[in-house]
Amino acid sequence: MNTLQLIHRLKKESQSPQNHIKIESLRNSNACLRPVQIKREDARVMAKWRRETYQSFFTWIQPSEAEMLEWLTRYENIDSDIIFFIEAPLGNPVGQVSIYNVDMDKKFAEFGRIIKGEKECPENLMKHACATVLQWAFYSLQLKKISLEVFADNKAAISLYKKLRFNILDILFFSKTKTPKGIIRWINVEKVRDKNQYRMVYKMTVKPRNEMNENGPPIRRNII
Ligand SMILES: CC(C)(COP(=O)(O)OP(=O)(O)OC[C@H]1O[C@@H](n2cnc3c(N)ncnc32)[C@H](O)[C@@H]1OP(=O)(O)O)[C@@H](O)C(=O)NCCC(=O)NCCS
Repeated sequence: MNTLQLIHRLKKESQSPQNHIKIESLRNSNACLRPVQIKREDARVMAKWRRETYQSFFTWIQPSEAEMLEWLTRYENIDSDIIFFIEAPLGNPVGQVSIYNVDMDKKFAEFGRIIKGEKECPENLMKHACATVLQWAFYSLQLKKISLEVFADNKAAISLYKKLRFNILDILFFSKTKTPKGIIRWINVEKVRDKNQYRMVYKMTVKPRNEMNENGPPIRRNII
């Protein structure tokens, strides 16, 4: 099964606990990553979280449950894109994280749509959940490089990304634009005359840790 087929299967069979990924580093805990399902309840939760945090993203949408469900229906058929709910030990979703734009030839993908949605999210769960997704992407999807873009003033997100070993590769400048439908969208501008008029964005990347150690061969984890 290739990378895209694996994502396809996880999304189609997301209700099966077999396709949930246990979050590592939380011993004796049932916290896990569950692929988002194309159903009203998941759309309701995702829409709520996005509305609460929309200014952290480049497209400032505040979707309704119906709009999110419509978006999820399109997402369902994109095999290069997977969103996970982060489920706390009691099974309630407390956040989300995603791997998208998976390019099998370049062994590359983007990491994002990260939201801590609920205040009761256990301490450090976001970090462990994101680390588990990255492990899964490197070892099960066989990716060699993962990147993200984040507003340089988003201190909480950058603090998390640094803990996940992301490094700043480039500093970009984004300009605030409006689509014909009136949606605010921040876009990358190549040439900047006055830097004060733009918002800084960090492009960050991470590569798999070299798992060879003196005790033997690479460690394989979390293989689905
Ligand atoms: C990004 C996000 C998932 C991080 O979750 P988290 O790792 O659990 O962290 P918290 O939200 O609890 O923020 C606390 C961390 O941010 C740091 N932080 C927050 N504001 C800060 C500031 N002004 N200056 C420096 N550090 C700051 C804190 O030091 C703390 O880091 P620590 O754990 O190293 O002490 C969460 O903040 C979130 O959902 N934000 C809104 C959506 C978002 O920005 N997504 C990313 C888009 S690229």
